[in-house]
Amino acid sequence: MTDPDTFDAYRGDILDFAAEPAAGDDAVRFRPDGWLLVRGQRVAGVLDADAEPDPRWRRHDWRGHLLLPGFVDTHVHAPQLDVIASYGTELLDWLQRHTFPAEARWADPAHARRSARRFVRELLAHGTTCAMVFPTVHRPGVDALFEAAVELDMALLGGRVLMDRNCPDALRDDALAAERESVELIERWHGRGRCGYALTPRFAATSSAAQLELCGALLRAYDGLHLQTHLAENRAEVDWIRALFPESRSYLDVYDRAGLLGPRSVFAHAIWLDADDRARLAASGSAVAFSPSSNLFLGSGLFDWAQTAAAGVPVAIASDVGAGTSLCQLRSAADAYKVLALQGQRLDAWRALYAITRGAARTLRRDDVGHFELGAWADFCVWSWSADTLQRHRVELARSLHERVFAWLMLADSRNLAAVHVAGRRVPLDADFTAAGAPGAA
Ligand code: GUN
Ligand code: ZN
Repeated sequence: MTDPDTFDAYRGDILDFAAEPAAGDDAVRFRPDGWLLVRGQRVAGVLDADAEPDPRWRRHDWRGHLLLPGFVDTHVHAPQLDVIASYGTELLDWLQRHTFPAEARWADPAHARRSARRFVRELLAHGTTCAMVFPTVHRPGVDALFEAAVELDMALLGGRVLMDRNCPDALRDDALAAERESVELIERWHGRGRCGYALTPRFAATSSAAQLELCGALLRAYDGLHLQTHLAENRAEVDWIRALFPESRSYLDVYDRAGLLGPRSVFAHAIWLDADDRARLAASGSAVAFSPSSNLFLGSGLFDWAQTAAAGVPVAIASDVGAGTSLCQLRSAADAYKVLALQGQRLDAWRALYAITRGAARTLRRDDVGHFELGAWADFCVWSWSADTLQRHRVELARSLHERVFAWLMLADSRNLAAVHVAGRRVPLDADFTAAGAPGAA
């Protein structure tokens, strides 16, 4: 853990948001050549270029670099690094052909531990310092994921995946084990370090009504639990849910009946909804994890951000790796822009950045990350404005801050990442977190 009496001042172009940048630039805080002050694990202030930290502060010179809050990924699958970029399938076939076999391999605890640690390392190596994560149904992998986060003092939400039908035997829950292990894991990890437990029914096709009701009961039984699942991603999936739950008005209604909606619930995708569904999401305070890379890759559909936001539903941008093809949230934001462009909608740089920083943190009820206000966790990244000559050329030509940041968002990726800090401590990005084996070992 970082010594609470360290005083570090990081100099660079500091950017965060005071509020949601809904209309215009007022919420944008850009402090070129400023100082980000970090005392121990927390942000102690930001100084403009013309102020100087007093000599107590150890100085870190990142002039000409961009200092941003660490990215927040509201929907990502740890075991799916093994199947990222798998060819040729839509959602339901992709699950059967690629995803379930990869997840079944987590039955081997050594493999699960190695994979969980590799996953956390990769998140950080892509600039993501807080995430809501799906592991698998296997408890050792869930433990390993949380252990890795606690070791680094990292904010991570997740929970044992629940699935009791329509899946391979190796991934199928038995009802008693699902309940017992979920309770044990909640008691072990919820609120430990900076972690939170998220009940994780995979989706309505792989959970019986009884299992969804168990989730609802657990959600009511423990304070502050989160919930994550998939919703209305693909048309064939939606038809299947209609056949499995004929008594429900809609896909969302299946979850609503089980008591799964609420201000700590995050629904991934939410593409194939109607106005009643959106109103119900908004009324319950539920949020949506828009996963553009995944939606394009699997050909799932175009998420309608304008209608969703107009209904009052908070939206964050997520990677959804391994259906998404990059852990880098800059790539997710660039894909989000393109998905909206196909619908005649526009996503400016401020809304895009907000949806991978402060706005995303807010959907996870982590209001102490994603910005640089006094007392926030010092989770931040240093980015270079250009990682190659084309990026440099384009960024230098920009005539306004928005033009510059937008071009950077569209062109930059993890090659631009210079340093990552979690809870005030710089994380060595080349460290081998896969303690039990050689890097790259299965
Ligand atoms: N729906 C159910 N499981 C999954 C998954 O692992 N990925 C995606 N994209 N959708 C799902
Ligand atoms: Zn997913």
